[in-house]
Amino acid sequence: MTRYVCAAALAVAFIFAGPTTGWSQAPAQLVEQRQEIMKSLWPAYYQEMARVVRGQSTDMPGVASRASQASEALKKAGQAFAPGTGRDAVPKTRATPAVWTQRADFEAALMRLITETDAIGSAAKSGNLDAVKAQWLKVAEACGGCHGGPAKSGGKFRFEEP
Ligand code: HEC
Repeated sequence: MTRYVCAAALAVAFIFAGPTTGWSQAPAQLVEQRQEIMKSLWPAYYQEMARVVRGQSTDMPGVASRASQASEALKKAGQAFAPGTGRDAVPKTRATPAVWTQRADFEAALMRLITETDAIGSAAKSGNLDAVKAQWLKVAEACGGCHGGPAKSGGKFRFEEP
C-alpha cells in the first residue's frame, strides 16, 4: 500500500516537473534559472498589463500574449524548484524550506498564479477592460501567496532580504 502511495506521489512530482525537467542540472544552475525567471516576470510580462489596467495603454492583445508567455515562464520556474536546491545546497537562494516541506501548498500557489494569469489573458481577448481590471487584483494576490511585493520582502516561500 505504502509503495503505491509513494509511486503515485512520485508520478505527480514528475508530472509537475515536466518531461524536460532540469532535475539533472546542478543545483546552483537551477537557482539561477528560477531567479532569472522571477526577476523577468514584472518587466517582461506584468508591467505592460499594469499599464493597460491603469489606463496608460490600450494594448489588450498585448495583455493576452504576455499572459500566455508569463504562464509558460512560470511553468519553467516551477521545474527549477527541484529537491536539493534549498539554502543548505545553494546559500544564495531565497526559497524557504517550506517550498519542499509544504510541497502541495507551494504547487497550489504556483498553479493559482498560472490560472489567474491565464484568466487575465482570456479577459483581454474578450476585450472587456473591466474584467481585465478585476482579474489584475487576483493576479497580484497570487504573487502574494508566496511573497510580498517589495523586492526585499519575505513571505511563506521566500526569505526576506536584509
Ligand atoms: C509559487 C510561489 C511564487 C509565486 C506565486 C511567485 N513567486 Fe516570486 N519567488 C518565489 C520564490 C520561492 C522566490 C525565491 C527564489 C530563489 O531565490 O530561489 C521568488 C523570487 C522572486 C523575485 C526575486 C528574484 C531574485 O533574484 O531573488 C522576484 C522579483 C519575484 N519573485 C517576482 C514575482 C512576481 C512579480 C510574482 C507574481 C507575478 C511572483 N514572483 C510570484 C516564489 C513565488
